[in-house]
Amino acid sequence: MMNLRSERAGDEAGIRAVHIAAFPSALEVELVDRLRDAGRSTVSLVAEMESAIVGHVLFSPVTIAGDGAPGGGLGLAPLAVLPELHGRGVGSALARRGLEACRDAGHAFAVVLGEPGYYARFGFKKASLYGLGNEYAVDEAFMAMELAERALERARGVVIYSPEFDLFKT
Ligand SMILES: CC(C)(COP(=O)(O)OP(=O)(O)OC[C@H]1O[C@@H](n2cnc3c(N)ncnc32)[C@H](O)[C@@H]1OP(=O)(O)O)[C@@H](O)C(=O)NCCC(=O)NCCS
Repeated sequence: MMNLRSERAGDEAGIRAVHIAAFPSALEVELVDRLRDAGRSTVSLVAEMESAIVGHVLFSPVTIAGDGAPGGGLGLAPLAVLPELHGRGVGSALARRGLEACRDAGHAFAVVLGEPGYYARFGFKKASLYGLGNEYAVDEAFMAMELAERALERARGVVIYSPEFDLFKT
C-alpha cells in the first residue's frame, strides 16, 4: 500500500537514500539538499510504503528570461523511485500528485528536462512549442505544461533554473 504526502522534517535521510539508489551520481542528492537549504524546495512529496520512503519528487521555482514572461513557474527535478520498485506506478503517482499540488498552490506552469516518452503522459509538451528555450542545449527533452489555462500563451524566452542547478553545468 503506497501513501503520498508532503515532505516533513526528518525525511531528509530517506529522501537521500532514494536518490543515491536511483541515480548514477550524487548530484541529485546534493541538489535536493541545496534547494531545501535555500528555501526553494517549493513542492516536495514523498511516496511511502510501510512507513519507509520509496520515492521523492521536487519542484523548485524557475524564471523566464525575456519580455512579457509569465511568473509562477516551477521546474520538476528530481524525480526518483527506489530501483527495486520501478514499474509499479510510484513515479507516475508522484508526478501527477506533485503537479496537482503545484496547480493548487497557484503556480502557472511547470517544466521538466527528461524522457519525453515518460513525461508526455502527464501533459508535458516540447517546451519550444510554447516558445521556451533552456540553458542545457537540449530540444525534445525539455518540456513544459500549463497549470493555469493559457499560462504560456504569450511566453517567450529561456527558462532559468535556480542557482543550485549550476552543479549540473560543471
Ligand atoms: C523515472 C522513474 C522515476 C519512474 O518511476 P517508476 O515508479 O518506475 O514509474 P512508473 O511505474 O510510474 O512508470 C513506469 C513507466 O514508465 C516508463 N519509463 C520509466 N523510465 C522511463 C524512461 N527513462 N523513459 C521512458 N519511459 C520510462 C516505463 O517503461 C513504464 O512504462 P509503462 O507504464 O508503459 O509500462 C524511475 O525509473 C527512476 O527513479 N529512475 C531513475 C531516476 C531518473 O532517471 N529520474 C528521472 C529524472 S528526470
